[in-house]
Amino acid sequence: MDKLLIQGGQPLDGEIRVSGAKNSALPILAATLLADGKVTVGNLPHLNDITTMIELLGRMGVELLIDERMSVQVDANSIKELTAPYELVKTMRASILVLGPMVAHFGEAHVSLPGGCAIGTRPVNLHVQGLEQMGAEILVEGGYIHAYCKDRLKGAHIFLDTVTVTGTENLMMAAALADGVTILENAAREPEVVDLAECLIAMGADVRGHGTSTIEIHGVESLHGCHFDVLPDRVETGTYLCAAAATRGRVLLKDTREDILEAVLLKLEETGAEISTGKDWIELNMRGRRPRAVNLRTAPYPAFPTDMQAQFVALNAVAEGTGSVTETVFENRFMHVQELIRMGADIDLEGNTAIVRGLDYLTGAPVMATDLRASASLVIAGLVARGETLVDRIYHIDRGYECIEEKLQLLGATIRRIPG
Ligand code: UD1
Repeated sequence: MDKLLIQGGQPLDGEIRVSGAKNSALPILAATLLADGKVTVGNLPHLNDITTMIELLGRMGVELLIDERMSVQVDANSIKELTAPYELVKTMRASILVLGPMVAHFGEAHVSLPGGCAIGTRPVNLHVQGLEQMGAEILVEGGYIHAYCKDRLKGAHIFLDTVTVTGTENLMMAAALADGVTILENAAREPEVVDLAECLIAMGADVRGHGTSTIEIHGVESLHGCHFDVLPDRVETGTYLCAAAATRGRVLLKDTREDILEAVLLKLEETGAEISTGKDWIELNMRGRRPRAVNLRTAPYPAFPTDMQAQFVALNAVAEGTGSVTETVFENRFMHVQELIRMGADIDLEGNTAIVRGLDYLTGAPVMATDLRASASLVIAGLVARGETLVDRIYHIDRGYECIEEKLQLLGATIRRIPG
């Protein structure tokens, strides 16, 4: 298993390009299953999760053409197997995103249940209930969700009792080919949901209200091919901004967007960071100052994202003052806290709140990544710590951060991958 070795203590300083959003690329790749024509998806990040989704489509017999710039052309007409097998789903929960498109387009789908997950139980009951409301027959047996629909799915009025990102996406994709109108209430408003809606529209779908909590989808009989570039990754953007703030440095991020990061930028400004933005770039400068601790609470978009929580715990750990960080989206998403404490951080966990008392410095230590965003927080801690930090199990980080060590090296960090 590869590890990352970090020599901390230097402020980050430099410019890098932000990759395409993983959480947008995954549903959009799944949406290609809805089209009768060829769909080309561009600006895909080089990430293990993207490779897994491509492998999943390939296993189903879907023909894929990948060019060297990571554009993928998908021809769903060649599909042979309507199954997402356990070996792939267990490595990536987002595989559940093929359920809606498959049953809507091909009348049948067999998708392994995702099972346990490091950050809470994360059920998929809302995906299943929504499809049932649209007329799919669903049987959960032998660890698989089997979905059938003899004719077309039917439009339905669906109220989601929890805001779910992939749930909204799955149902929006299924509704695009359903007969009649589907209304999704209490829908997720995340930019990635909006990006998927825009892609569906480019394929000929009739989707309205995306970006609000009520999405209306007028089903069409068929969808056609298109070319679609995924939006920039707001979590990758936020992670590098946070790393620059924690190290008292400066970073200019290109090919990103400030309008999808408002809650995060506000918090970074509260730490004392100077932030300037343009149409497709964001610059953060600490001018050598120590950040101030911030209080925050995660919640669905447009509030502060749970995927940035761990990075802010690391930032607070070296900030001036005490910050409280409350997680409301997932249970058990504080696995990074124990590892940060091993690096000297002063953190108390009280239920779903971490009280972080900022220290002058952390101390390098061997630590273990437990999930994707937790590993990003350990890298940030390693960058600010005195001495050497060895982050183990970085396969988690490779799921969501493209070339993290190369990008950090470009920003002046002393970091290298140790193959294992
Ligand atoms: C997506 C993101 C993930 C992010 C999360 C929250 C992708 C591929 N992943 O995950 O990075 O952290 O949104 O912003 O886009 N829930 C139910 N029943 C369901 C579905 C969800 O109770 O059927 C609950 C979950 O347990 C959780 C909450 O809803 O407490 C939100 O989860 P959800 O938005 O579904 O997360 P994902 O879509 O899996």
